[in-house]
Amino acid sequence: MAEIHLEQLAHSYAPDAPERVYALQPLDLTWQDGETYALLGPSGCGKTTMLNIISGLIRPSEGRVLFDGRDVTGEDTRRRNIAQVFQVPVIYRSMTVAQNLAFPLVCRGLPRARIRQRVGEIAELLGLSTFLKRPARELTADQKQLISLGRGLVREDVSAILLDEPLTVIDPQMKFELRKKLKQINEAAGVTMVLVTHDQNEAMTFARTVIVMNHGRIVQSGEPQELFECPATEYVGTFIGSPAMNFLATVPREGRREVPDLGLGLSVPKGEDARSGTWTLGFRPEHVFAEGDGWPLRGRIRRIWFEGVEQVLEVEAGETVFRAKLDHARVRTGESVELRIAPERLALYRDGQRVGAGYD
Ligand SMILES: Nc1ncnc2c1ncn2[C@@H]1O[C@H](COP(=O)(O)OP(=O)(O)O)[C@@H](O)[C@H]1O
Ligand SMILES: [Mg+2]
Repeated sequence: MAEIHLEQLAHSYAPDAPERVYALQPLDLTWQDGETYALLGPSGCGKTTMLNIISGLIRPSEGRVLFDGRDVTGEDTRRRNIAQVFQVPVIYRSMTVAQNLAFPLVCRGLPRARIRQRVGEIAELLGLSTFLKRPARELTADQKQLISLGRGLVREDVSAILLDEPLTVIDPQMKFELRKKLKQINEAAGVTMVLVTHDQNEAMTFARTVIVMNHGRIVQSGEPQELFECPATEYVGTFIGSPAMNFLATVPREGRREVPDLGLGLSVPKGEDARSGTWTLGFRPEHVFAEGDGWPLRGRIRRIWFEGVEQVLEVEAGETVFRAKLDHARVRTGESVELRIAPERLALYRDGQRVGAGYD
């Protein structure tokens, strides 16, 4: 196992083109040994490119890949001891499930008894024990993905397990189980895991550190709660959370930015000019309450819908529309409401970047 460091790394698939297009913009990133990470971002943002650079399938056009300080940029995949699981299951169709799982260990010449024991453990963990003697091709798509995963997990010498949207083909209940299993494996074996996903729930429930990407850049990296509570950009606030964070248009007023329809605002931080740039006031629908202390938010309910057991209200106040997520509120569409928000839950964003919050 190893600490993985990406140093001044960038990648262009056509580095010699007159106008270089980067799939990955220059970045520095350290993956701590034994941690769980999620790479979260929309399709095309560079997640697979980053993963393939770590595993050695792609050689970066700029920068270096270091494992425990050792430069492996030019080393091929096999020498890196990385296990990679892809979106589409990769299995040896002519082999049984047991032979598939054993394959990486057979290649490394482990004693047969040890192989059998290890295959047994992994099959048990993944719920494949009863299928061990079956030809792998006869299994369902999600079982095949479990085999792929099992082949990654079976080795005890892996530096990291990289999972590239491996749960796409797996049904929701199984996904939940599998995420739990992956976490257990991480805790038991202490192996670094990187899960690539475009699904915020998957990222937030799996990883200790979530790295949000967009257009080949890392937008923010942090613990799930940090990303939820303090999105560094409007993009993160919108991408994480359901419904998305509210970002309301504001106007300048005596060193403050205010949402005129709500009379709600914050002072801009020292050194900032309240009159230049585009400023929004951000707050989470989850931080709005039906009663209690806080600033009043008055408006009319435009729409109500449910997300799980919670209600989402879409409220309009003049030109302004915001959303509130409430446990239980006896309200109807068309009604006027007065909701509340604690000032420390508000944050200012200038040109999409967080610049200050209500508790500063
Ligand atoms: N083999 C390739 N050749 C040229 N461009 C590629 C290749 N693979 C990916 N790209 C481009 O690089 C960018 C990042 O792709 P990718 O890393 O696959 O994103 P993601 O996994 O986040 O969907 C995209 O614009 C994609 O079109
Ligand atoms: Mg991808």
